[in-house]
Amino acid sequence: MKIDILTLFPEMFKGVFDESIIKRAVLDGKVEINLHNFRDYTLDPHGKVDDTPYGGGAGMVLACQPIFDCVEAIKTEESKVILLTPSGTPYKQKMAYQLSNEKHLIIICGHYEGFDERIRTLADYEISIGDYVLTGGEIPSMVLVDSIVRLIPGVINERSHIEDSFNENYLLDYPTYTKPRVFRGMEVPEVLTSGDHAKINEWRYNKAIEITKEVRPDLLEK
Ligand code: ADE
Repeated sequence: MKIDILTLFPEMFKGVFDESIIKRAVLDGKVEINLHNFRDYTLDPHGKVDDTPYGGGAGMVLACQPIFDCVEAIKTEESKVILLTPSGTPYKQKMAYQLSNEKHLIIICGHYEGFDERIRTLADYEISIGDYVLTGGEIPSMVLVDSIVRLIPGVINERSHIEDSFNENYLLDYPTYTKPRVFRGMEVPEVLTSGDHAKINEWRYNKAIEITKEVRPDLLEK
């Protein structure tokens, strides 16, 4: 898979993509990630990428030209273009699975007060990572890339996907423990040390339902 990210702040991505699982996926050739500063595409002699809103109002609005030219320079027939915006479709694990099957993603990070409405015509998907407003699309795009890359076959142990919270059965994850068996008086549930795998699976399933009921009853309704 190839992922191209359009941003005014490529430096923000350094720590996130240069560590751990994403780094290994890149080194193993499972994913190629390119950062494009769309300021490099502006035709404005002073490097401007934004302007004041028609009709007045606060803040600056990202202009069409740099983003259109940047997308058009990297887009192919296989590309899917994603626009990150708080008014997009709420991002869910199901969407992460869907996007992990694509060959090429182009992710546009908005910034400032917003972007020119006509930029939306470039997008195959408009995505929001939650009902809150961030300063830009950079952190949301990191969230997307992380959740997608871990689903690419061979990036992590695939059994982990089946057991993930939010997989198709809409249950939160069951609790897990490691050694020691007792820590500051808190004991690991006995069933987990019993070696009885049928019992362990049943306990985990029941716990997942119990936790989901308590924390996210809306998921159980599905
Ligand atoms: N840009 C600013 N806030 C955002 C959000 N919640 N999701 C996606 N993009 C955003």
